[in-house]
Amino acid sequence: MEIDVFTLFPPAFAWFEGQRHVANAIASGLRLGYVNYRDHTPLSSGQVDDTPFGGGAGMVLRVDVVEAALQARYGRDPVKLRTERRVIALTPGGRVLDDALVDELAGEPALTLLSGRYEGFDERVLEHLATDRVSIGRYVLAGGELAAMVLCDAVLRKLPGALGHEESAVEESFSRALDGAPEYPHYTRPAEYRGWTVPGVLLSGHHARIRDWRLEQSRRRAAGEPG
Ligand SMILES: C[S@@+](CC[C@H](N)C(=O)[O-])C[C@H]1O[C@@H](n2cnc3c(N)ncnc32)[C@H](O)[C@@H]1O
Repeated sequence: MEIDVFTLFPPAFAWFEGQRHVANAIASGLRLGYVNYRDHTPLSSGQVDDTPFGGGAGMVLRVDVVEAALQARYGRDPVKLRTERRVIALTPGGRVLDDALVDELAGEPALTLLSGRYEGFDERVLEHLATDRVSIGRYVLAGGELAAMVLCDAVLRKLPGALGHEESAVEESFSRALDGAPEYPHYTRPAEYRGWTVPGVLLSGHHARIRDWRLEQSRRRAAGEPG
């Protein structure tokens, strides 16, 4: 898989790349690249934004700047690029990222993520240069970098080789394996701590009963019942 993140702050991703599952995914063939809008702006002095038509606070990321960065990276008309790869604008009002969307994106051979800043993108970026608008939740962050990392983190966990074989993304909260329900509770040693005990079934060694108990806990959590 290939992921390109367009951002004004590529160094923000240094910590992210050091995370074990990200490093594993890269070692297993993921190509994670960054494009700084400022490196390709056709405007003088590295300008990438401008004041909003109609007035109002803040600055808006310009459509010509985003287009120039896409053109420089892919060497073709960004409008046509949309037939070849998902170009995802990260924006608070977009489709909210959930496990189904993560699965969908993990199945793509290539993704382009557009991180915004300031007041966000000129609307023509969303209309003409992006294929998707994705939000990581109904709140507003200062920039798209954390949103890009959240999306990449969730997608990369689904890629073969990203997680060690002792971990698995197959049976996790919201996965198909659990019918979209939250995951069941986990416990480890000590079996009793301050009088807080572990459910006896987990100590029974009876795999079928443990499985039934876990699925029941998961169903109860989905129904909003206490676990
Ligand atoms: C300060 S926000 C712009 C908010 C915009 N004026 C609005 O009210 O929707 C700047 C950038 O951060 C990113 N961003 C902020 N919150 C986000 C969220 N919940 N999901 C995805 N991206 C987000 C987007 O890339 C956005 O262009």
